[in-house]
Amino acid sequence: MSQPLNQLSDRARERIPGHIAIIMDGNGRWASQRRLPRTVGHRRGMEALRSVLRTASRLGVGYLTVYAFSAENWSRPADEVNTIMGYLTRFLRTEIPELNENNIRLAAIGQLERLPEKARQQLDASIQSLSHNDGLTLVLALSYGGRQELVESMRRIADKVASGELVAEEICESTIASHLNTHAMPDPDLVIRTSGEMRVSNFLLWQISYAEWVVTDVLWPDFSGEHLLGAIETYASRDRRFGKV
Ligand code: FPP
Repeated sequence: MSQPLNQLSDRARERIPGHIAIIMDGNGRWASQRRLPRTVGHRRGMEALRSVLRTASRLGVGYLTVYAFSAENWSRPADEVNTIMGYLTRFLRTEIPELNENNIRLAAIGQLERLPEKARQQLDASIQSLSHNDGLTLVLALSYGGRQELVESMRRIADKVASGELVAEEICESTIASHLNTHAMPDPDLVIRTSGEMRVSNFLLWQISYAEWVVTDVLWPDFSGEHLLGAIETYASRDRRFGKV
């Protein structure tokens, strides 16, 4: 691909979303359509992520959050869960040089303590080794659920009220936002969901209040940097009013 910025319209170039969040859906269907095991779809999904990440980084996107494994995904067959965890660990190990070359930082949100030990250790090591970068931040949502995140945040706030550190009447939107896993990031501007499903699926429930949505029928393994450019063009053509006139 030539420089991705040059492929965008002037309007889109001036309105690159600061934070893009993606629900990477359709790996299973992509594989079924080819009579392949679902895990092949996940492997191709990982390759799609590489391509999208490269493009997002070159465009100057600040944060790219991807829904790599939901809290509900633990109830999939053990074989599938183990394979995804294996891909995750491999991705975290082998991508470091490329992520580093592209000045990409890494972060993770979700109930990370539920990840297998090996994946968690690799995740910590990869986050650490990329922590000096200051380009795009890739945020992996792992064992993530928006409701679970809100419950944990409410508990932390309740503890502070109980200990007198916080006064209930002073709790406001920013109190809640600052107790979420995403406290150090801006809210997503654009949410992309692949494979045509019109669902939120427990993803970033609080944070996407004013995000623009782009839903595409393309299955995640077929999604590429070119599709990302298309989604950004759509985003740039929208009139964001945040509830105002
Ligand atoms: C959704 O497709 C995808 C997942 C549940 C897993 C996402 C995993 C990857 C993109 C590859 C791994 C990459 C990393 C970094 C871990 P689906 O299985 O729900 O598809 P379906 O709805 O067609 O069944």
